Amino acid sequence: MSIATIAFSRKDAKQPSSRTLKKVLAAMDRDGAVAFANLFPLPLLRRLRAEIARRHSSGELRARGLVRDIAGRYAAVVPFEGPFLEPAFYANPALRAMLAALLGEDYRISSLETVIAMPGAYRQHQHIDAPIRFDRSVAGRKVRFKGRLPELPPYAVTLCVPLCGMTEENGPTAIWPGSHRLALRARPPGEREIARKFPVERMTGAFGRSFFFDYRTFHGGMPNLTAEPRPVLMFVFTRSWFRDPNTADVFPRLAISERSLARVPARHRELFLLAPAARRALWEKR
Ligand SMILES: [Fe+2]
Repeated sequence: MSIATIAFSRKDAKQPSSRTLKKVLAAMDRDGAVAFANLFPLPLLRRLRAEIARRHSSGELRARGLVRDIAGRYAAVVPFEGPFLEPAFYANPALRAMLAALLGEDYRISSLETVIAMPGAYRQHQHIDAPIRFDRSVAGRKVRFKGRLPELPPYAVTLCVPLCGMTEENGPTAIWPGSHRLALRARPPGEREIARKFPVERMTGAFGRSFFFDYRTFHGGMPNLTAEPRPVLMFVFTRSWFRDPNTADVFPRLAISERSLARVPARHRELFLLAPAARRALWEKR
């Protein structure tokens, strides 16, 4: 096991020490991923799980799924309502401190999705979620940027929150720790090079465990060989200027109503600036 796991003390959970934050930064720098034993209290996770189970069983998540079938899994945007609207979830103090350390104080929530791997879901291809590139086209010829992009700090981080215990059988996320360093190379690496250079790690563990991964870290879902659907939350945070191309054609990519947004404490409201409800309508209102 090379990916570090952070277990928060009671004090750390309220306000992580600079020692804990340095550990997180070092792990993200080295592996592009870090796990948390107890970022969220179990009672809150159970309520999040119940809300997803309800929306899954009613079919509404499937009906509003993003137009992507990912090897037998479906992904859907989750609205910030009910337990998802609790600051203990979206503005958990340890989460806020770690994200500020990784993405800067003015980071934003980019999206909240659930990915449900149905029984029989098969292995998802190895991929990264989105690179940033500075290629240009000069007289029809592609000119790649050859500067040192791999040294950039993260611009987007996903917090994966499994809503069940993750085993080798029910479709854990496979991660190639350290692979984030190659993703922005002028010539991106292929699957074989990544597999050769970085030993794969499957993110198994008890219910309550969650993990961060850098948007550049190669990963992929493993098969769900069980008879139960496997729900996880993918909570994406970005620097204020980054826009996730994966949700570019989706409206809203961040689902929170004006009423719910009004219930967000003022000190956390900027987290939701990418939501339509947070925008000033200058012409017609949707
Ligand atoms: Fe992904």
